[in-house]
Amino acid sequence: MPVSSPLQLDRRRIDELIDRELAALNARTAQSGAMYARAKESLSGGVASSYQLRDPWPIYLIDGVGARVRDVDANEYWDFHNGFGSMVQGHAHPAIVEAVRERVALGTHFAAVTEDTIVVAEELKRRFGLARWRFVNSGSEATMDAIRIARGLTGRDTIVKIFGSYHGHHDAVMVSIGVPYDKIGDRDNLASLPYGAGIPAAVAELTIPVPFNDAAAMERRIERLEREGRAPACVIMEAAMMNLGVVLPEPGYLEEVREITARHGIVLIFDEVKTGLAIAAGGATERFGVTPDMVTLAKTLGGGLPSGAIGATEAVMAVVEDGSVYQVGTYNGNPLSMAAARASLEHVLTPEAYGHLDALNDRIVSGCDAVIERYQLPGYAVGVGSKGCVTFSTERVVDYETFKANQDVAVTELAWLWNMNRGIYMTPGREEEWTLSVTHTNEAIDDYVAAFDEMAAALTA
Ligand SMILES: Cc1ncc(COP(=O)(O)O)c(C=O)c1O
Repeated sequence: MPVSSPLQLDRRRIDELIDRELAALNARTAQSGAMYARAKESLSGGVASSYQLRDPWPIYLIDGVGARVRDVDANEYWDFHNGFGSMVQGHAHPAIVEAVRERVALGTHFAAVTEDTIVVAEELKRRFGLARWRFVNSGSEATMDAIRIARGLTGRDTIVKIFGSYHGHHDAVMVSIGVPYDKIGDRDNLASLPYGAGIPAAVAELTIPVPFNDAAAMERRIERLEREGRAPACVIMEAAMMNLGVVLPEPGYLEEVREITARHGIVLIFDEVKTGLAIAAGGATERFGVTPDMVTLAKTLGGGLPSGAIGATEAVMAVVEDGSVYQVGTYNGNPLSMAAARASLEHVLTPEAYGHLDALNDRIVSGCDAVIERYQLPGYAVGVGSKGCVTFSTERVVDYETFKANQDVAVTELAWLWNMNRGIYMTPGREEEWTLSVTHTNEAIDDYVAAFDEMAAALTA
């Protein structure tokens, strides 16, 4: 919860601190600047994905071990970015290094199943309580195939998503994602807005957004779609939103969504690309105690190797098994990725590891909340498992509208620069959060909180 009567921050002071911290970061990352000058001549924008862009240049990394990473200027950081939330195992974990080393010498790709793939499917079945699994190579592939399976099963084209949620970069879900929109429509009639150019309007119109944490609004929209002869195939959603900082489900919300989708014959997909294996052994499904019809996984699954998965009930996967929906891909179940995933599940992401992550998250959330209280900052800390953030807002954020209306963008930008200059490597972007790894220690957490304390002091001086 935000503090009840927060301090009014001095906007000029925030801007001055941003300028000062940006100049300091530029000075300490000169080699990244030089690498950018070279990279942009052959690599568009100097990066491999537009999510890696940054002005005036991206920070280029060389290596990482455990919770530490190093950039090309030899600056060392605690890694709270963790590869957009993929490296919950920490970098170069010995169990994963060993598994990959063994596998690489035995051949890395056959397009035939190796035993590790079966072991991983068995373990995911146990953790998520879903009977049948398939593998892919990224989160986008997982959500793309999950939606196709839902459409194949129901014979319907329309899909429902949460306004502000990100589910990957394929056309069906690059709709009504976040932050650039000013006119989103009213809660009962949120607009289907393409995210960037190149998304056909005809495809975007098939994707209907609804607000998070409002089951009644979801049901009203579903009923209207039914009346219009456009009943949805699926609702795809994160059980806890991880692309507006962290937004937890309100008590009872997920249970209501489960009940509504079941009653309307709609496939419920929990996109657990960020939450799965990161906030509990069985992801959000276990943590919040609501089992969907399908889950999608990626990120943490492969321990840093490209992989993704789709889990579903037997009834849903029947359309794959009888051949009516093609769920395919040359690199699906790649032996190297599956060896890493197996080692991760068997030796790294153990019950003790989740206990450790929960303890670390309690420490960072309570540490940040204590700073907020001491300085009466407009904000609050929120976390679950390996994930969390400080949301700079005078109001509690519960959905896209409250995020857009209340998040303090300038302070969020300052916090990123501040952290980078104090050895805390954070995911850039106002929608992002921290990801802890099993190799993080109390020392890493305390350094994070100390940097935050120092920023709070500078902001309120
Ligand atoms: C919830 C969610 N789903 C899907 C994706 C897409 O995953 P990928 O980038 O591996 O394609 C992301 C990526 O951040 C995500 O956060």
